[in-house]
Amino acid sequence: MSNKRLIGPFKQLITMRGLSVKGAISDDKLHVLENAAIGVENGLILEVGLFDEMAHNYDEIDEINEGVVGLPGFVDCHTHMVWGGSRARDYSLRMRGETYEKILEEGGGIFDTVEKTRAEEKEILVRNFQEHVFRHLGFGVTTIEVKSGYGLSKESELKMLEVIQEADVKADLIATCLAAHVCPKEFSDKSQYLNYVLEEILPEIKKRDLATRVDAFIEPSAFPAAVARGYLEKAKALGFELTLHADQFKPGGSELAVELGAQSADHLEATDKNGITHLAKSNTVAVALPGASVGLGMQFTPARELLDEGASLAIATDWNPGSAPMGDLITQAALIGIYEKLSTAEVFAGVTFRAANALGLSDRGAIETGKVADFLTFATSDFREILYHQGMMKPTDVWKKGVRIDKSV
Ligand code: NIG
Ligand code: FE
Repeated sequence: MSNKRLIGPFKQLITMRGLSVKGAISDDKLHVLENAAIGVENGLILEVGLFDEMAHNYDEIDEINEGVVGLPGFVDCHTHMVWGGSRARDYSLRMRGETYEKILEEGGGIFDTVEKTRAEEKEILVRNFQEHVFRHLGFGVTTIEVKSGYGLSKESELKMLEVIQEADVKADLIATCLAAHVCPKEFSDKSQYLNYVLEEILPEIKKRDLATRVDAFIEPSAFPAAVARGYLEKAKALGFELTLHADQFKPGGSELAVELGAQSADHLEATDKNGITHLAKSNTVAVALPGASVGLGMQFTPARELLDEGASLAIATDWNPGSAPMGDLITQAALIGIYEKLSTAEVFAGVTFRAANALGLSDRGAIETGKVADFLTFATSDFREILYHQGMMKPTDVWKKGVRIDKSV
């Protein structure tokens, strides 16, 4: 039986179609369809057009409140949403001026979350993770990348990835292995630890299809580029896509990401001319994480410069208990938009099709025939109102694969 339905009318539908995956985008390039509707079938978009012209072709019409703006479902291409414990103590120390790196060097920070995540029962991790995903979905995030990286042992890294695989959620999840987050205390040598990950953890992940991507934190305090390069080359040879935590405090990681053909280089708060030039010439997506800038009280990623030089820019939350506890994509996108002088089109692109591209997904992020039917409505008839409210305007409704999400359960 066909489940063909029409959804509309949208006062304005911002389709995000026909926009370049790289470089600056001016707002006049946005495709804004007035009094529009979306035809869906089997979770995909069948057609997009004018509500009045399409209505008679559909037996089933999912009517929405008049006067709303529609956007593609958001894609959050960088999160660490599975964790145990809390880092409120770190945050209060950072507010008083302590640095993230010093807390880490002294054995706290990420190590604190590793201890708590290892000790937590899997069922509790699943329950907490599901709650995070549920909140994210209600705020319009229909596809979420999620990293491991608080396990740092075979047992605990696999446990984290199992949490992602077993969670009962309506958003699509893309899992990434971040076993190379920091070197666990049990290993005195970083290369030895990376060999252990290569030999013991990655083959098992591949066999059980627990993740398709591998990430590493490239930083002198975590894994310097020279130490991580061989590990990443071997991970790639095993069939994993690569993504890197790059240039958060010191430059170097983005160049490595480009050289290795990584899908994305994320953070880039401390990137330099060399990093920007490399990213601009490549297909590696630059991912800004404004939640980490706000969470650490540091500068934003130079998003304007990256775009003007020709790079692709996505915006993600980095949602994690340490550097980025807020986890609110629309708020963070609005903040980097005003500080970095981005167009509305560039911000929307950064949380839709450009973020999808950072995950290697070409089937979502725009409202057009054949794409996954993930979209949102906002209670306004002018799309510029959405970022103007700096995150306080949340979606009124969210459709995942053509089905309206019930936000009460
Ligand atoms: O993306 N910088 C490295 N990793 C994460 C933070 C993890 C944590 O502090 O728990 C980040 O900011
Ligand atoms: Fe991160």
